[in-house]
Formats: sequence, C-alpha cells, structure tokens
Amino acid sequence: MANPVTMPNISDVDELRDRYAYPEDLRSPWLRINFVSSLDGARTVEGSSGGLGTPADKRVFGVLRELTDVVLVGAGTARTEDYGGARTNETRREWRLAHGLAAVPPIAVVSASAKIDPASRLLTDTSVPPLVLTTSNADADNKRRLADAGATVLELGADTVGTDAIVETLDDLGLRRVLCEGGPTLFGQLIADEAVDELCLTVSPLLIGGSAGRIAVSPNASTYPMARAHVLADDDGTLLTRWVSARPRR
Ligand SMILES: NC(=O)c1ccc[n+]([C@@H]2O[C@H](COP(=O)([O-])OP(=O)(O)OC[C@H]3O[C@@H](n4cnc5c(N)ncnc54)[C@H](OP(=O)(O)O)[C@@H]3O)[C@@H](O)[C@H]2O)c1
Repeated sequence: MANPVTMPNISDVDELRDRYAYPEDLRSPWLRINFVSSLDGARTVEGSSGGLGTPADKRVFGVLRELTDVVLVGAGTARTEDYGGARTNETRREWRLAHGLAAVPPIAVVSASAKIDPASRLLTDTSVPPLVLTTSNADADNKRRLADAGATVLELGADTVGTDAIVETLDDLGLRRVLCEGGPTLFGQLIADEAVDELCLTVSPLLIGGSAGRIAVSPNASTYPMARAHVLADDDGTLLTRWVSARPRR
C-alpha cells in the first residue's frame, strides 16, 4: 500500500471522488459516518459544528454528499444545524445521474418523537422529500403534519428506531451508499450495534477547550477496531482522515 499520508491537491474534486468512492456492487447498505472535530476532541463551537469546518472539510463534505444515495442524520443534529435538503445544481445533478445515482440524495432523519417542524428547511428548502424514520409511539399529529408537508414518514419501532430497522429500510429502498452525518447519539448507537463500516473524520487545526461533547455518545463504551484508509493533509493544517471497519461485515 502506498504511503497513506499524502498531500494531494485537495481542490481536485475528481481525486477526492476517487479517494472516497464507495465499494462497488454493495449487497447491503454501507454505513459511512462523517464528522469534524477539533484537535482536542470538541464536536462543536458555540453549539454547532460550523465553526470547526475548514475549506478542505467543506469540500469533502460536498463530495461525500455527491457520492451518496441518502444522507442519514439524527433529529438533534437536523434541528440544531437547521438542515435543509442537499444542495444541488445542474452540474452536480448531471454528474450523479451519469454515475447511476438519483439526481439528489434525500435526507433521512431519525427521530423517536417526530418533533420536527413541518415549516423547517428540511421540508421547505429541498428538491426531494425527506424521509422521517420514527416510531409508532411518536405523537400522531407530529407524524401527520410531516406527511402533509411532504415527508415520507416510516414507523420503524415502538419507542426507538433500531439500527437493524434503519439498515433494512434503507436496503429495501435501494439506498445502499449511506452517508451518516451524525449526530453523536446516533453514531453512538451505530458503534454499540457494530454497524459502522467507515468513518470520515476531519481534524480541524483548532483547540477549543470548554465543555463541548465528543462525536459519539452511548450508555456503554465498547472497543471498535478501525483500519486507516487514508490521511490527507491540507496546507492549513486540516487532516482529512478515512477509516474503515477492521471487523468482518455484519
Ligand atoms: N462535529 C460534527 O461533525 C457534528 C456532526 C453532527 C452533530 N454535531 C453536533 O452534535 C449535537 C447534537 O447531538 P445529538 O446527540 O443530539 O445528535 P443526534 O444523534 O443527531 O440527535 C439525537 C436525537 O436524534 C433522534 N435519534 C437519534 N438516534 C435515534 C434512534 N435510534 N431512535 C430514535 N431517535 C433517535 C432523537 O430525536 P427526537 O428527540 O426527535 O426523538 C434524539 O433525541 C449538536 O450540537 C450538533 O451540532 C456535530
């Protein structure tokens, strides 16, 4: 294997697409997780991840969205970060269609409560309807309002949405190249359930201190071995790291 620590021209989008290509001929969903963190492990600055992003991180964030069938995200992140639909333009749509992808990937939000504002950007600023992966015990009015606003509302559990149900549902929908953008609660569950295939972690050249939490939280700790796929360094100090699970796939 070539030296994985390289300094390519990080503005070269075609090279980034190659480096972040999903495995071919997937027979089940591949769960890629994407996060950014500070050098001292903070997941946010003043409550959101925006302050951690660097130009290289933003470029990779965009490329990862270009390559995916679906953006999976926890409701906490969708609410805090004011998620809208995936940004698109004609070039991006054409590139995706030419590469066997739908023109625009939908956002799939995981929410036990279905407490998502039907007037939020998720519903109003998108070119494709979002999926809401929720529970049978979520408030019926919340679900009805989201469905009325155009969301596809799917009940995947009684009180919580299990990892297997998420994976099976995405598989049934033919959405196998999955990009999970967090948040930490959802990521923690995926770690606990040994469902992480890949982590793309940007390390931002910042020290933050404070009390910001980590990128994964769950009730119990577990050890999940990962193998380095690449580390790309930008001139400003940003490290773009990619790790794949060292475990056999489920
Ligand atoms: N640095 C980064 O790259 C990055 C990335 C993402 C997020 N963040 C930050 O992380 C913070 C949010 O953390 P968080 O832990 O609240 O994020 P989260 O995992 O996105 O959201 C947690 C919420 O998502 C829903 N949820 C998650 N897993 C579920 C499951 N299995 N079943 C049912 N519902 C589920 C629940 O929503 P309901 O309450 O609706 O039931 C839960 O309250 C924000 O500050 C955000 O900015 C940082």
